[in-house]
Amino acid sequence: MEETIVLVVGAGPAGLGIAACLSQKCIPYIVLEREDCCASLWKKRAYDRCHLHLAKEFCSFPLKPHAPEANKYMCKDDFIDYIDEYVEQFEITPRYYHSVESASFDENNGKWLVEARHTENNVTKLFVSSFLVVASGENGKGYIPDIPGLNDFKGDFMHSSEYKSGRQFRDKDVLVVGCGNSGMEISYDLSNSGANTSTVIRNPVHVVDREMVFVAMQLVKYLSLSTVDALVSFASKLKYGDLSKYGIFRPKEGPFFLKINKGRSPVIDVGTIAKIQSGDIKVLPGIERINKNKVVFKDKVELDFDAIIFATGFKSTACEWLKDYDYILKDDGFPKNRCPNHWKGKNKLYCAGLSRMGIQGATKDAIAITDDIEMVLGNPN
Ligand SMILES: Cc1cc2nc3c(=O)[nH]c(=O)nc-3n(C[C@H](O)[C@H](O)[C@H](O)COP(=O)(O)OP(=O)(O)OC[C@H]3O[C@@H](n4cnc5c(N)ncnc54)[C@H](O)[C@@H]3O)c2cc1C
Ligand SMILES: *[C@@H]1O[C@H](CO)[C@@H](O)[C@H](O)[C@H]1NC(C)=O
Ligand SMILES: *[C@@H]1O[C@H](CO)[C@@H](O)[C@H](O)[C@H]1NC(C)=O
Repeated sequence: MEETIVLVVGAGPAGLGIAACLSQKCIPYIVLEREDCCASLWKKRAYDRCHLHLAKEFCSFPLKPHAPEANKYMCKDDFIDYIDEYVEQFEITPRYYHSVESASFDENNGKWLVEARHTENNVTKLFVSSFLVVASGENGKGYIPDIPGLNDFKGDFMHSSEYKSGRQFRDKDVLVVGCGNSGMEISYDLSNSGANTSTVIRNPVHVVDREMVFVAMQLVKYLSLSTVDALVSFASKLKYGDLSKYGIFRPKEGPFFLKINKGRSPVIDVGTIAKIQSGDIKVLPGIERINKNKVVFKDKVELDFDAIIFATGFKSTACEWLKDYDYILKDDGFPKNRCPNHWKGKNKLYCAGLSRMGIQGATKDAIAITDDIEMVLGNPN
């Protein structure tokens, strides 16, 4: 058994930011991480061509802005270098191979009891802490919808988190399901690699480009959300025109409204739309079922595919191990309270990085949480 003041679950951007802020305030802590490295989402589960889709000023951790010479939209490898420098600079030493399997609040002594299993030898160790921070991420496990016949599909299928590059798909017929940022960028990557690429777009989406988002993120400081949404929608119409003939429909609500209120991100186009307009990437409707190597679509069209990539999102896994989650989370593993009041629960329980606000959101949470912990320690009653 080991005791500390703050226990942090997860060594991604959110957990590392908390660790750095706690170090600066000289508050003892332990970070538990199930993988053998920090930021495992970025190091192990992101495709090769992935770039930050937001400008670097919106993607820095607490206490360390990006270098002036860094690219505005950093590539994955540069971002990983920044993370490794951060860990070194703030002397963060996560306990790797520690998978948290249970955490519960002990009413008798007012402490959190956390059980972590060592992933190499399955030995379980008990940790005790005054504060518990859930920083296990929104992307705990990949989600693949339950499509009839999928398990008998004759080709290969994978989740976007397992996709690295299009190299292995050259000359193959590939279907990408899901039109979020990962799905759209993977379609682009596949098509560039010589795969015959089709993509399922089922729900309405806003399509914008990086610069529109960049300008809008400055403007929201001065203008109302609805004004910014109107400007962004106008810019998007000018650049992309009417995409409904390709099966891409614009939602009724604006892009920033949807991001802030529903956690739904607009698609930040990296070149996929031009490929859809030129016919290099085909857009298909929802899938009804799968029959051996044929995919049957809602419009009854049947097409053969060699592979399917599911860019259908992730699930938060915090509720699988956090026993007393109703102090802060709903059953789906996301915060009960709306942003910006989402990060604090009962009994010194906090969550960071679960507000669907990306790295900037994780950074804000880390600062708010560590300030709160410092205050509670200063005034224990
Ligand atoms: C492909 C992709 C691109 C993205 N691009 C951007 C972008 O450009 N800008 C942006 O702002 N956001 C982006 N995001 C959003 C992303 O959620 C954040 O970038 C960021 O990684 C979130 O940090 P986090 O620490 O909250 O979660 P994560 O990075 O997921 O880290 C959580 C960590 O907790 C560990 N963990 C989970 N469960 C346990 C457990 N039970 N025990 C121990 N450890 C555990 C995991 O192994 C992981 O290392 C992107 C996401 C994806 C998938
Ligand atoms: C640890 O447990 C997992 C699942 O419970 C099992 O598959 C694995 O073989 C175990 N490893 C060791 C070293 O005991
Ligand atoms: C590409 O895929 C589409 C959709 O499955 C199919 O209709 C078309 O015949 C394929 N083209 C080639 C050259 O294989």
